[in-house]
Amino acid sequence: VKIPFLNLAAAHRELRDELDAAHRRVLDSGRFILGPEVEQFEAEFAAYCGVEHCVGVGNGLEALRLILEAAGIGRGDEVIVPAQTYIASWLAVTALGAEVVPVDIELTTANIDPSRIEAAITGRTRAILPVHLYSRPAEMAPISAIAKRHGLLVVEDAAQAHGATYQGRKAGALGDAAGFSFYPSKNLGALGDGGAVTTNDGQLADRVRLLRNYGARAKYQHEIRGTNSRLDELQAAYLRVKLTRLDEWNERRRALSREYLAQLSGVAGLDLPLADTEEIRSAWHLFVVRTADRDSLARALAEHDIETLIHYPKPPFLEPPYARGDWSAERFPFAAEQAASVLSLPFGPHLGSAALSQVAHSLGRVLAS
Ligand SMILES: Cc1ncc(COP(=O)(O)O)c(C=O)c1O
Repeated sequence: VKIPFLNLAAAHRELRDELDAAHRRVLDSGRFILGPEVEQFEAEFAAYCGVEHCVGVGNGLEALRLILEAAGIGRGDEVIVPAQTYIASWLAVTALGAEVVPVDIELTTANIDPSRIEAAITGRTRAILPVHLYSRPAEMAPISAIAKRHGLLVVEDAAQAHGATYQGRKAGALGDAAGFSFYPSKNLGALGDGGAVTTNDGQLADRVRLLRNYGARAKYQHEIRGTNSRLDELQAAYLRVKLTRLDEWNERRRALSREYLAQLSGVAGLDLPLADTEEIRSAWHLFVVRTADRDSLARALAEHDIETLIHYPKPPFLEPPYARGDWSAERFPFAAEQAASVLSLPFGPHLGSAALSQVAHSLGRVLAS
Protein backbone atom coordinates (compact mmCIF):
# COMPACT_ATOMS: atom_id res chain seq x y z
CA VAL A 1 0.00 0.00 0.00
CA LYS A 2 1.28 3.44 -0.91
CA ILE A 3 2.14 5.63 2.06
CA PRO A 4 1.40 9.29 1.27
CA PHE A 5 3.44 12.08 2.79
CA LEU A 6 0.35 13.56 4.45
CA ASN A 7 -3.17 12.17 4.66
CA LEU A 8 -5.34 15.32 4.66
CA ALA A 9 -8.36 13.43 3.33
CA ALA A 10 -8.50 11.33 6.51
CA ALA A 11 -8.35 14.47 8.64
CA HIS A 12 -11.26 16.02 6.77
CA ARG A 13 -13.29 12.79 6.83
CA GLU A 14 -13.09 12.91 10.63
CA LEU A 15 -14.45 16.50 10.63
CA ARG A 16 -16.81 16.26 7.69
CA ASP A 17 -20.12 16.95 9.48
CA GLU A 18 -18.73 19.86 11.47
CA LEU A 19 -17.08 21.41 8.38
CA ASP A 20 -20.33 21.03 6.43
CA ALA A 21 -22.21 22.74 9.26
CA ALA A 22 -19.66 25.58 9.34
CA HIS A 23 -20.05 26.03 5.59
CA ARG A 24 -23.84 26.16 5.87
CA ARG A 25 -23.66 28.61 8.77
CA VAL A 26 -21.64 31.10 6.68
CA LEU A 27 -23.78 30.55 3.57
CA ASP A 28 -26.95 31.22 5.53
CA SER A 29 -25.50 34.28 7.28
CA GLY A 30 -24.75 36.07 4.02
CA ARG A 31 -21.60 37.52 5.70
CA PHE A 32 -18.43 36.64 3.81
CA ILE A 33 -15.90 39.34 4.76
CA LEU A 34 -14.91 40.32 8.33
CA GLY A 35 -18.01 38.98 10.00
CA PRO A 36 -18.74 37.12 13.24
CA GLU A 37 -16.73 33.98 12.32
CA VAL A 38 -13.50 35.94 11.90
CA GLU A 39 -14.18 37.86 15.10
CA GLN A 40 -14.84 34.69 17.08
CA PHE A 41 -11.92 32.82 15.60
CA GLU A 42 -9.64 35.73 16.50
CA ALA A 43 -10.85 35.61 20.12
CA GLU A 44 -10.52 31.81 20.28
CA PHE A 45 -7.05 31.69 18.73
CA ALA A 46 -5.80 34.56 20.94
CA ALA A 47 -7.02 32.62 23.99
CA TYR A 48 -5.41 29.42 22.66
CA CYS A 49 -2.04 31.14 22.25
CA GLY A 50 -2.36 33.03 25.53
CA VAL A 51 -2.19 36.53 24.04
CA GLU A 52 -4.50 39.52 24.12
CA HIS A 53 -4.88 40.09 20.39
CA CYS A 54 -5.24 38.06 17.22
CA VAL A 55 -5.85 39.60 13.79
CA GLY A 56 -6.86 37.30 10.94
CA VAL A 57 -5.11 38.06 7.65
CA GLY A 58 -4.78 36.62 4.15
CA ASN A 59 -1.87 34.21 4.70
CA GLY A 60 1.31 33.65 6.70
CA LEU A 61 3.53 35.79 4.49
CA GLU A 62 1.12 38.70 4.90
CA ALA A 63 0.98 38.16 8.67
CA LEU A 64 4.75 38.66 8.91
CA ARG A 65 4.85 41.53 6.42
CA LEU A 66 2.00 43.40 8.14
CA ILE A 67 3.67 43.07 11.57
CA LEU A 68 6.88 44.58 10.20
CA GLU A 69 4.99 47.31 8.35
CA ALA A 70 2.92 48.12 11.44
CA ALA A 71 6.18 48.46 13.39
CA GLY A 72 7.35 51.02 10.85
CA ILE A 73 10.11 48.85 9.38
CA GLY A 74 11.07 49.68 5.81
CA ARG A 75 13.79 51.05 3.54
CA GLY A 76 17.14 51.45 5.27
CA ASP A 77 16.29 49.00 8.07
CA GLU A 78 17.74 45.55 8.67
CA VAL A 79 16.04 42.46 10.05
CA ILE A 80 17.97 39.42 11.30
CA VAL A 81 16.62 36.15 9.86
CA PRO A 82 17.76 32.51 9.91
CA ALA A 83 19.90 31.53 6.93
CA GLN A 84 17.68 28.49 6.37
CA THR A 85 13.88 28.79 6.41
CA TYR A 86 10.97 28.82 4.00
CA ILE A 87 11.54 31.78 1.66
CA ALA A 88 8.42 33.57 3.00
CA SER A 89 10.30 34.59 6.17
CA TRP A 90 12.70 36.58 3.98
CA LEU A 91 10.09 37.87 1.51
CA ALA A 92 8.14 39.52 4.35
CA VAL A 93 11.19 41.69 5.09
CA THR A 94 12.31 42.54 1.59
CA ALA A 95 8.74 43.30 0.40
CA LEU A 96 8.96 46.41 2.61
CA GLY A 97 12.29 47.50 1.14
CA ALA A 98 14.14 46.46 4.31
CA GLU A 99 17.19 44.19 4.16
CA VAL A 100 17.52 40.64 5.46
CA VAL A 101 20.65 39.86 7.48
CA PRO A 102 20.99 36.08 7.54
CA VAL A 103 22.46 34.30 10.56
CA ASP A 104 23.44 30.64 10.34
CA ILE A 105 21.37 27.92 12.00
CA GLU A 106 22.30 25.15 14.43
CA LEU A 107 22.33 21.78 12.68
CA THR A 108 20.84 20.01 15.70
CA THR A 109 17.74 22.24 15.95
CA ALA A 110 17.49 23.68 12.40
CA ASN A 111 16.80 27.04 14.08
CA ILE A 112 18.74 30.32 14.18
CA ASP A 113 21.91 30.03 16.30
CA PRO A 114 21.48 32.59 19.11
CA SER A 115 25.24 32.74 19.71
CA ARG A 116 25.77 34.26 16.24
CA ILE A 117 23.07 36.94 16.41
CA GLU A 118 24.91 39.69 18.25
CA ALA A 119 27.72 39.83 15.66
CA ALA A 120 25.10 40.52 12.96
CA ILE A 121 23.58 43.56 14.69
CA THR A 122 24.38 46.98 13.18
CA GLY A 123 23.10 50.49 13.76
CA ARG A 124 20.35 49.77 11.24
CA THR A 125 19.02 46.55 12.83
CA ARG A 126 15.38 46.90 13.89
CA ALA A 127 14.16 43.36 14.53
CA ILE A 128 15.05 39.70 14.95
CA LEU A 129 12.78 37.24 13.16
CA PRO A 130 13.31 33.73 14.61
CA VAL A 131 11.51 30.91 12.79
CA HIS A 132 10.19 27.90 14.72
CA LEU A 133 11.15 25.57 11.89
CA TYR A 134 9.19 22.31 11.66
CA SER A 135 7.43 23.73 14.79
CA ARG A 136 10.38 23.32 17.17
CA PRO A 137 10.51 26.63 19.08
CA ALA A 138 13.65 28.68 18.54
CA GLU A 139 15.78 29.44 21.63
CA MET A 140 13.66 32.41 22.66
CA ALA A 141 15.27 33.19 26.05
CA PRO A 142 18.70 34.18 24.66
CA ILE A 143 17.08 35.78 21.60
CA SER A 144 14.81 37.95 23.77
CA ALA A 145 17.76 38.90 26.00
CA ILE A 146 19.77 40.06 22.98
CA ALA A 147 16.76 41.97 21.62
CA LYS A 148 16.26 43.70 24.96
CA ARG A 149 19.94 44.71 25.19
CA HIS A 150 19.81 46.26 21.72
CA GLY A 151 16.25 47.62 21.72
CA LEU A 152 15.08 45.31 18.92
CA LEU A 153 11.66 43.88 18.13
CA VAL A 154 11.24 40.09 18.21
CA VAL A 155 8.86 38.79 15.52
CA GLU A 156 8.18 35.05 15.66
CA ASP A 157 7.63 33.23 12.40
CA ALA A 158 5.18 30.76 13.94
CA ALA A 159 3.82 29.61 10.55
CA GLN A 160 4.67 25.97 11.42
CA ALA A 161 4.29 26.12 15.20
CA HIS A 162 0.61 26.09 16.24
CA GLY A 163 0.56 24.67 19.77
CA ALA A 164 4.33 24.32 20.27
CA THR A 165 5.55 25.51 23.69
CA TYR A 166 8.71 27.07 25.08
CA GLN A 167 9.14 27.23 28.87
CA GLY A 168 5.42 26.54 29.18
CA ARG A 169 4.29 29.36 26.91
CA LYS A 170 2.82 28.86 23.45
CA ALA A 171 4.39 29.90 20.17
CA GLY A 172 2.68 33.14 19.25
CA ALA A 173 3.21 34.49 22.78
CA LEU A 174 7.01 34.33 22.83
CA GLY A 175 7.99 37.62 21.21
CA ASP A 176 6.55 41.07 20.49
CA ALA A 177 4.31 39.62 17.76
CA ALA A 178 3.97 36.43 15.74
CA GLY A 179 2.84 35.49 12.25
CA PHE A 180 0.89 32.25 11.70
CA SER A 181 -0.01 30.49 8.46
CA PHE A 182 -3.15 28.38 8.04
CA TYR A 183 -2.02 26.85 4.74
CA PRO A 184 -4.00 23.59 4.45
CA SER A 185 -1.16 21.24 5.43
CA LYS A 186 -0.27 23.12 8.63
CA ASN A 187 -1.11 21.72 12.10
CA LEU A 188 -4.01 24.19 12.06
CA GLY A 189 -4.89 24.40 8.38
CA ALA A 190 -7.73 26.11 6.54
CA LEU A 191 -9.31 24.80 3.31
CA GLY A 192 -7.40 27.45 1.40
CA ASP A 193 -5.10 30.31 2.35
CA GLY A 194 -5.25 32.06 5.70
CA GLY A 195 -3.03 33.61 8.34
CA ALA A 196 -3.02 35.50 11.64
CA VAL A 197 -1.01 37.91 13.73
CA THR A 198 -0.87 37.39 17.50
CA THR A 199 0.47 39.95 19.97
CA ASN A 200 0.02 41.54 23.39
CA ASP A 201 0.72 44.95 21.90
CA GLY A 202 -2.64 46.67 21.44
CA GLN A 203 -1.25 49.45 19.27
CA LEU A 204 0.47 47.03 16.92
CA ALA A 205 -2.69 44.89 16.67
CA ASP A 206 -4.74 47.98 15.88
CA ARG A 207 -2.30 49.01 13.17
CA VAL A 208 -2.40 45.53 11.58
CA ARG A 209 -6.21 45.65 11.71
CA LEU A 210 -6.16 48.91 9.77
CA LEU A 211 -3.52 47.75 7.29
CA ARG A 212 -5.34 44.50 6.42
CA ASN A 213 -8.52 46.41 5.50
CA TYR A 214 -7.51 49.27 3.17
CA GLY A 215 -6.35 51.35 6.13
CA ALA A 216 -9.95 51.73 7.27
CA ARG A 217 -11.62 51.07 10.60
CA ALA A 218 -15.08 51.74 9.16
CA LYS A 219 -16.14 51.55 5.52
CA TYR A 220 -14.77 54.43 3.40
CA GLN A 221 -12.98 56.03 6.35
CA HIS A 222 -9.36 55.54 5.39
CA GLU A 223 -6.80 56.51 8.02
CA ILE A 224 -3.62 55.13 6.47
CA ARG A 225 -2.49 53.51 3.20
CA GLY A 226 -3.52 49.93 3.74
CA THR A 227 -3.94 46.82 1.67
CA ASN A 228 -6.49 44.03 1.29
CA SER A 229 -5.33 41.02 3.29
CA ARG A 230 -8.21 39.61 5.32
CA LEU A 231 -8.93 36.14 6.66
CA ASP A 232 -12.07 34.91 4.85
CA GLU A 233 -15.20 34.40 6.89
CA LEU A 234 -15.56 30.87 5.46
CA GLN A 235 -11.96 29.95 6.33
CA ALA A 236 -12.44 31.34 9.84
CA ALA A 237 -15.50 29.10 10.26
CA TYR A 238 -13.48 26.03 9.15
CA LEU A 239 -10.58 27.04 11.40
CA ARG A 240 -12.89 27.26 14.41
CA VAL A 241 -13.81 23.60 13.84
CA LYS A 242 -10.21 22.57 13.42
CA LEU A 243 -9.00 24.55 16.44
CA THR A 244 -11.13 22.28 18.65
CA ARG A 245 -8.95 19.34 17.48
CA LEU A 246 -5.55 21.05 17.50
CA ASP A 247 -4.37 19.84 20.91
CA GLU A 248 -5.63 16.29 20.35
CA TRP A 249 -3.99 16.08 16.93
CA ASN A 250 -0.76 17.62 18.24
CA GLU A 251 -0.69 14.93 20.95
CA ARG A 252 -1.03 12.27 18.23
CA ARG A 253 1.86 13.95 16.39
CA ARG A 254 3.94 13.85 19.59
CA ALA A 255 3.19 10.17 20.14
CA LEU A 256 4.08 9.36 16.52
CA SER A 257 7.32 11.35 16.80
CA ARG A 258 8.30 9.28 19.84
CA GLU A 259 7.54 6.08 17.90
CA TYR A 260 9.67 7.22 14.96
CA LEU A 261 12.51 8.22 17.31
CA ALA A 262 12.38 4.83 19.06
CA GLN A 263 12.23 2.79 15.86
CA LEU A 264 14.93 4.77 14.04
CA SER A 265 17.32 5.27 16.96
CA GLY A 266 19.78 2.56 15.96
CA VAL A 267 19.94 3.30 12.23
CA ALA A 268 23.50 4.12 11.15
CA GLY A 269 23.98 7.14 8.91
CA LEU A 270 20.77 8.83 10.04
CA ASP A 271 20.49 11.99 12.17
CA LEU A 272 17.18 12.30 14.00
CA PRO A 273 15.34 15.39 15.23
CA LEU A 274 15.77 16.25 18.92
CA ALA A 275 13.18 14.79 21.27
CA ASP A 276 10.92 17.11 23.27
CA THR A 277 12.00 18.30 26.71
CA GLU A 278 10.02 19.99 29.51
CA GLU A 279 11.38 23.31 28.25
CA ILE A 280 10.95 22.87 24.49
CA ARG A 281 7.92 21.01 23.16
CA SER A 282 7.58 20.93 19.40
CA ALA A 283 4.14 20.53 17.84
CA TRP A 284 5.80 18.16 15.32
CA HIS A 285 4.55 19.77 12.14
CA LEU A 286 7.07 17.64 10.24
CA PHE A 287 9.38 14.74 11.05
CA VAL A 288 12.66 15.63 9.37
CA VAL A 289 15.72 13.35 9.32
CA ARG A 290 19.16 14.03 7.86
CA THR A 291 21.42 11.71 5.91
CA ALA A 292 24.45 12.18 3.67
CA ASP A 293 22.94 10.80 0.45
CA ARG A 294 19.45 12.18 0.87
CA ASP A 295 18.46 11.98 -2.80
CA SER A 296 19.28 8.25 -3.06
CA LEU A 297 17.32 7.57 0.13
CA ALA A 298 14.28 9.48 -1.21
CA ARG A 299 14.46 7.51 -4.49
CA ALA A 300 14.76 4.16 -2.71
CA LEU A 301 11.81 4.97 -0.42
CA ALA A 302 9.76 5.99 -3.47
CA GLU A 303 10.47 2.53 -4.91
CA HIS A 304 8.95 1.16 -1.68
CA ASP A 305 5.86 3.34 -2.35
CA ILE A 306 6.80 5.74 0.43
CA GLU A 307 6.35 9.42 -0.38
CA THR A 308 8.82 11.92 1.12
CA LEU A 309 9.39 15.66 0.68
CA ILE A 310 12.28 18.07 1.18
CA HIS A 311 11.83 21.13 3.43
CA TYR A 312 13.70 22.94 1.86
CA PRO A 313 16.13 21.90 -0.88
CA LYS A 314 17.83 25.31 -1.07
CA PRO A 315 18.29 28.01 1.57
CA PRO A 316 16.90 31.37 0.41
CA PHE A 317 20.40 32.83 -0.11
CA LEU A 318 21.10 30.21 -2.80
CA GLU A 319 17.85 30.95 -4.65
CA PRO A 320 17.79 33.43 -7.56
CA PRO A 321 15.77 36.18 -5.78
CA TYR A 322 18.52 36.56 -3.18
CA ALA A 323 21.63 35.60 -5.18
CA ARG A 324 24.52 37.78 -4.05
CA GLY A 325 28.25 37.27 -4.52
CA ASP A 326 29.05 37.26 -0.80
CA TRP A 327 26.24 34.92 0.32
CA SER A 328 27.51 31.41 -0.17
CA ALA A 329 27.43 27.91 1.29
CA GLU A 330 30.85 28.70 2.82
CA ARG A 331 29.45 31.73 4.62
CA PHE A 332 26.43 29.84 6.06
CA PRO A 333 27.77 26.27 6.18
CA PHE A 334 25.15 24.78 8.51
CA ALA A 335 22.23 26.16 6.51
CA ALA A 336 23.78 24.74 3.33
CA GLU A 337 24.52 21.37 4.91
CA GLN A 338 21.03 21.16 6.39
CA ALA A 339 19.36 21.88 3.04
CA ALA A 340 21.51 19.25 1.30
CA SER A 341 20.78 16.50 3.81
CA VAL A 342 17.17 16.84 5.05
CA LEU A 343 14.31 14.51 4.22
CA SER A 344 10.77 14.79 5.61
CA LEU A 345 9.17 11.39 6.28
CA PRO A 346 5.44 10.64 5.98
CA PHE A 347 3.81 12.27 8.98
CA GLY A 348 0.64 13.77 10.43
CA PRO A 349 -2.01 12.91 13.02
CA HIS A 350 -3.59 10.38 10.67
CA LEU A 351 -0.47 8.35 9.97
CA GLY A 352 -1.20 4.90 11.37
CA SER A 353 1.32 3.06 13.55
CA ALA A 354 1.55 0.26 10.98
CA ALA A 355 2.44 2.71 8.21
CA LEU A 356 4.98 4.40 10.47
CA SER A 357 6.62 1.03 11.22
CA GLN A 358 6.69 0.23 7.52
CA VAL A 359 8.50 3.53 6.82
CA ALA A 360 10.97 2.95 9.66
CA HIS A 361 11.60 -0.64 8.55
CA SER A 362 12.11 0.30 4.87
CA LEU A 363 14.36 3.19 5.80
CA GLY A 364 16.52 0.95 7.99
CA ARG A 365 16.81 -1.65 5.23
CA VAL A 366 17.73 0.94 2.58
CA LEU A 367 20.43 2.56 4.72
CA ALA A 368 21.86 -0.83 5.73
CA SER A 369 22.18 -2.00 2.12
C1 LIG B 1 8.27 29.12 8.01
C2 LIG B 1 7.17 29.69 7.16
N1 LIG B 1 7.01 31.02 7.12
C3 LIG B 1 6.02 31.58 6.39
C4 LIG B 1 5.15 30.82 5.65
C5 LIG B 1 4.15 31.50 4.79
O1 LIG B 1 2.84 31.12 5.02
P1 LIG B 1 1.76 31.17 3.82
O2 LIG B 1 2.04 30.05 2.91
O3 LIG B 1 0.46 31.05 4.54
O4 LIG B 1 1.91 32.50 3.17
C6 LIG B 1 5.27 29.42 5.69
C7 LIG B 1 4.33 28.51 5.02
O5 LIG B 1 4.12 28.32 3.91
C8 LIG B 1 6.32 28.84 6.44
O6 LIG B 1 6.48 27.52 6.47
